Amino acid sequence: MNDTEGDWIPDPDHSPEPEGFRARLAALWWLRSYATPWRGQIVIMFLAAMIGVAASTVVPLVIEAIVNGPIKRGDRGELLPMFLAVFGLGAAEAGLIAYRRWIQSIAVLTIERNMRDDFYAHLQQLSVSFHDRWGTGQLLSRATSDLSTIRRFFGFGAIYLVINVAQYVAVIILLIVTYWPLGILVAAGTIPVIALSKRFGAGYSLVSRRMQDQQGDLATWAEESASGIRVTKAFGRGPWLSRRFMEHADQVRTSQLDMVQLLGRFWSLLMLIPNLTMALVVLLGTLAVAHGAMTLGALVAFVALLVLLQWPVIDIGWILAMAEEAATASMRLIEVFNTAPTITDPVTPIPLVRPRGRLAFESVEFQFHDADAPTLRDVTLTIEPGETVAIVGATGSGKSVLTSLPSRLHDVTGGRITLDGVDIRDLGLTELRRVVSTAFEDPVLFSMSVRENLTLGRPDATDADIEAALELAQATFVHELPWGLDTRIGEQGLSLSGGQRQRLALARAVVARPTVLVLDDPLSALDVHTEALVERSLANVLGETTGLVVVHRPSTVALADRVALLQNGTLAAVGTHSELMQIPAYAEILSVEDPYERAS
Ligand SMILES: Nc1ncnc2c1ncn2[C@@H]1O[C@H](COP(=O)(O)OP(=O)(O)OP(=O)(O)O)[C@@H](O)[C@H]1O
Ligand SMILES: [Mg+2]
Repeated sequence: MNDTEGDWIPDPDHSPEPEGFRARLAALWWLRSYATPWRGQIVIMFLAAMIGVAASTVVPLVIEAIVNGPIKRGDRGELLPMFLAVFGLGAAEAGLIAYRRWIQSIAVLTIERNMRDDFYAHLQQLSVSFHDRWGTGQLLSRATSDLSTIRRFFGFGAIYLVINVAQYVAVIILLIVTYWPLGILVAAGTIPVIALSKRFGAGYSLVSRRMQDQQGDLATWAEESASGIRVTKAFGRGPWLSRRFMEHADQVRTSQLDMVQLLGRFWSLLMLIPNLTMALVVLLGTLAVAHGAMTLGALVAFVALLVLLQWPVIDIGWILAMAEEAATASMRLIEVFNTAPTITDPVTPIPLVRPRGRLAFESVEFQFHDADAPTLRDVTLTIEPGETVAIVGATGSGKSVLTSLPSRLHDVTGGRITLDGVDIRDLGLTELRRVVSTAFEDPVLFSMSVRENLTLGRPDATDADIEAALELAQATFVHELPWGLDTRIGEQGLSLSGGQRQRLALARAVVARPTVLVLDDPLSALDVHTEALVERSLANVLGETTGLVVVHRPSTVALADRVALLQNGTLAAVGTHSELMQIPAYAEILSVEDPYERAS
């Protein structure tokens, strides 16, 4: 269909095969769960719509009566009530439409909000590995444009689908009643309409899926370009990125044009059907009137009714397009909703009564979803309550992956991790994460106030708790910010320096007063002076808590009671710093990281 197809990156686990009619119908049917709370309003809406349809359908019949009555007989007296009837019906229809729109808007906008809330809540539950695999834009586009598509369908498509089908059926019945031979002829025109619609629907859904996925990719590009703006500017690659972005934007445009083209072709064929029918009806109707089989009034009514039929048929074009787009959009949402969170609470969580913090890795193995080999193998390590173990390893050896395991950001794929002898998978997630606190290598802060960032893990922390954590992390600089603790941090903490962000992230980890503290390279962005200060206060905290700390510098190793050397995903040695200094690989990692240390 177009030459950009090769570049189209499909969603994870999604095959770009066309979905069958049943699947598309099922996707639309899935939406009903969101509509059911609005049952009452929907019934009123449809009643209002039906009365509107009836009002507009009756008008031609009144006209028939006018033609056959007052006009034929020249009786002006009857004209006024009939005129008033037509006028009244028109006014009633307008009023009902306004009323329907009003309750419909409330229902539809609420449905959209509820779906978005559910989607967000589900995303929060999905594991880190899900988010690793899915581009942000794909999720963003689902939460925005796909939901708008569904809202449009609920707001217009669904209701007009029902209205038009009702109007179609009502008019056909009236036509058959008015003059059945011509009525049957018009009814037969339904068959090509259905056949055409089916063919169009299959083609359109395929292109609309492609377009919606491409929009997701485009959103990913936009998001990454915005968050990586410093890098692209520094490398002067703005124009190059713009070109790449435009290529993606162009793919979306091509798909949209394909959609318009499909709809246009479908539409012109669709228009042909009522127009042909009209020509036939006028021809055969005139003959019927000439032969006295039909009255003139009946023919006029017939033609007026037929005009009413034209819109439902023509409308089928955009209604189907809307329905197909909504089906695609809900399929894209269902894909995410159907992804069950892999890291969940156990059925009956074992409560931790006064956790002591004995953390044990027992033959732990970890392999990423689509990796060929495990990232961690046979990791066995027990950290006693209050003990601190430092993890030392070359870059890429699996240190960060190891630190993600105790708080169950990833689940082990072999062996187990226990806390006070209980497999962490048997503990409630919230409880586990209150006991085990983690500070990550990449200190992500949210665009909220410093206070909110700090108390993320413990919303009930007091000012004294916060102050103690800030002292410990040498992060008292926050008091010098324009609004102190209430200063809003820019998106991703951009308005703070790397070292400041790292210290806030460290404070955030300790403010929760965890029993087990996991720190992934917590001091990498600090100058030697600040590092020494943080180390000193960190030593105090680690004195009481169980610590697992990734370190790169010999000075930080001093914080630990024991050191574990991680090599190629497995623990090559565990012992004290001086014991491990006998191992060349260990000595090399620590000394390469700190050439001055080696010199001294
Ligand atoms: N989401 C992921 N999917 C697949 N592989 C991954 C993923 N994250 C990390 N890896 C791989 O796992 C290995 C270990 O990565 P890890 O981040 O634990 O290294 P590290 O020891 O922390 O390194 P550094 O010192 O640079 O922080 C690497 O080979 C990396 O490519
Ligand atoms: Mg790392």
